[in-house]
Amino acid sequence: MRSFEIPPGVVAPDDYEPLARERLSPQAWAYYAGGVADETTIGWNREAFARLKLASRVLTAFESGGTGVTLFGQHFEHPILLAPAAHHALAVPEGELATVVGAGGAKAGMVVSTESDFTLEEIAQAARQSSRPSLWFQLYIQHDRGFTAELVKRAEAAGYGALVVTVDAPIHSLRNREQRAGYKPTKLSQHPNLRGLHTSHVAEAALGESLMFRGFLDVATRWADIAWLRSLTSLPILLKGILNPEDAETAIRHGVDGIIVSNHGGRVLDTVPASIEALPAVARRIAGRVPVLMDGGIRRGTDVLKALALGASAVLVGRPYLYGLAVAGPAGVAHVLHLLRCELEIAMVLTGCATLDEIGPQVIWQPEAPGETQ
Ligand code: FNR
Ligand code: LAC
Repeated sequence: MRSFEIPPGVVAPDDYEPLARERLSPQAWAYYAGGVADETTIGWNREAFARLKLASRVLTAFESGGTGVTLFGQHFEHPILLAPAAHHALAVPEGELATVVGAGGAKAGMVVSTESDFTLEEIAQAARQSSRPSLWFQLYIQHDRGFTAELVKRAEAAGYGALVVTVDAPIHSLRNREQRAGYKPTKLSQHPNLRGLHTSHVAEAALGESLMFRGFLDVATRWADIAWLRSLTSLPILLKGILNPEDAETAIRHGVDGIIVSNHGGRVLDTVPASIEALPAVARRIAGRVPVLMDGGIRRGTDVLKALALGASAVLVGRPYLYGLAVAGPAGVAHVLHLLRCELEIAMVLTGCATLDEIGPQVIWQPEAPGETQ
């Protein structure tokens, strides 16, 4: 792997963003930074974190502490994972093979996308040759269920520790920023993990015809597919893209092992709420039966703390590490994760929490209840 340097003056995760913009083509920038339609939800993902205030504590006597967390029997040194994202080769030619080295450097778990630019086996091999970060595989269930079953078997054989089934993006969303920039989405069967997949019958809408109701619904994923997946693999299954507590409940009934509250970084349905706004109701409904994770808008360690306070066991970050990758390859990825982890540790100390288990609703500042006397 060629060597990369962290540019001077980069001290916070967001410092990578303007530098990444300079390095990426306008099309790649539109793909990474953009979202669906007017990108309202992207803004809300950040604003909702900013609105939550923290309750600081002083003079806490810490004897020991740490950021470790165990999920599905796997130990992580900190609760910040790399969210699945397609096409890391838009950032650097080494793509996911570079990201995985950065994830290992930061001791972070990484979720590898179905739409990665290298095969899941190549990425697993790169992980083994570096410091062996834990890998999970993000699955897009394909209309060809036989092909999908093969993909699951491949992920198992390559040593992936969980399946993250993304359920919020069954159709191509309205990526207006990508369209304006002339970004051309990759054809399904051209993704390295999907070589050999037949896509001939996937409907294209002619002008004046409805794409939704012309064949699409026949091949769309449904709850029965989750039951089918459950019967196919013993890997832990997480559903990613849950915002509604009813869906979370149905997921549990179908035997899933974890929930990821996510609006896909504002890339699928515009004006759905911020993930952090949706998290508390989902966490309440799940009530500890399975771990709940979340992503969307995490840019600071204080955001991680807030997500854990509102019921998440761990979080995922997307764009920040892609920007780190674009600017400084594996070193940039590791640096972004390292910054977030250090910021989380500082925020824990200043809110009086020694371990992740101690992070609860008490760290979120509440205005005094009306009528309360001191
Ligand atoms: C994504 N995301 C995504 N999710 C998924 O399940 N499979 C995928 O292939 C992708 N691809 C993808 C590409 C790019 C460029 C981005 C930015 C995002 C969504 C991702 O996993 C995550 O939900 C969001 O990125 C989280 O929001 P933030 O951290 O980017 O604000
Ligand atoms: C995206 C798809 C690949 O968000 O999940 O671009």
